[in-house]
Amino acid sequence: MSISPIGFFDSGIGGISVWKEVVKLLPRENTIYLADSKNSPYGSKAISEIQDISFKNTKWLIERGCKLIVVACNTATTNSIKLLREKFEIPFVGIEPGIKPAIKESKNGKIGVLATRGTLSSELFEKTSQSIFGIDIIEKEGDGIVEIIESGEFENNELESLLRKYLNPMIDYGIDQLVLGCTHYFIVKDLIKKIVGNKITITNYNVAVAAQVKRILEEEKTVNIEKNKIYNDFFTNGNKFAIKLLIGNEKSVNTI
Ligand code: DGL
Repeated sequence: MSISPIGFFDSGIGGISVWKEVVKLLPRENTIYLADSKNSPYGSKAISEIQDISFKNTKWLIERGCKLIVVACNTATTNSIKLLREKFEIPFVGIEPGIKPAIKESKNGKIGVLATRGTLSSELFEKTSQSIFGIDIIEKEGDGIVEIIESGEFENNELESLLRKYLNPMIDYGIDQLVLGCTHYFIVKDLIKKIVGNKITITNYNVAVAAQVKRILEEEKTVNIEKNKIYNDFFTNGNKFAIKLLIGNEKSVNTI
């Protein structure tokens, strides 16, 4: 069991930002990453569709022997992780907009959240964001960003002007913390940083997700102790090009 891989899925390449933190912390673990680009973007889909897709992706990863699944997507986590935990016995680690860490860090109580429509309208997100007294949260749906990033463009003019359109109202509002509520946005974090400047901090909760994966493996006693060569397998039902840009050409990407 310890030799079994950790599985990851997302609507494409976004979750690679999470995968990178996990392999940094746990370099002795085997991993399988499923880039479900064919169904991208999840953010504009109905909840039932997001749940169906998450169910299928989970099943696919379990069939490949995964011992733990990282739902490396805010939209899939906020809309379906509860259901996945009910239906499958395997442990799950999800990713959701890190509002709590942002609140802890904020000096003026003004926080911006850029996420997909699916995440912002989810019950889980509403629960986390509504119950916080004395905190002003300004939310923006990042329509169109995922599509550009999926095409392998990480800093063209179209992307920059779209980001400015969503981020400028937050800057004008005076936020001091920005939560990137979509794993795809972390891929263009440097461009976002350039737009928002040094006075706004971008919360990075991918590190916390990796720590949670480690904690669960230790609790379940499934940390990899075998000495075999480690594998990191990537599978996509879309374009390999953007994945290669992020993981390098030396790693193999399989088409399914
Ligand atoms: N990367 C995903 C997220 O974290 C999904 C983006 C999408 O497909 O809309 O929300």
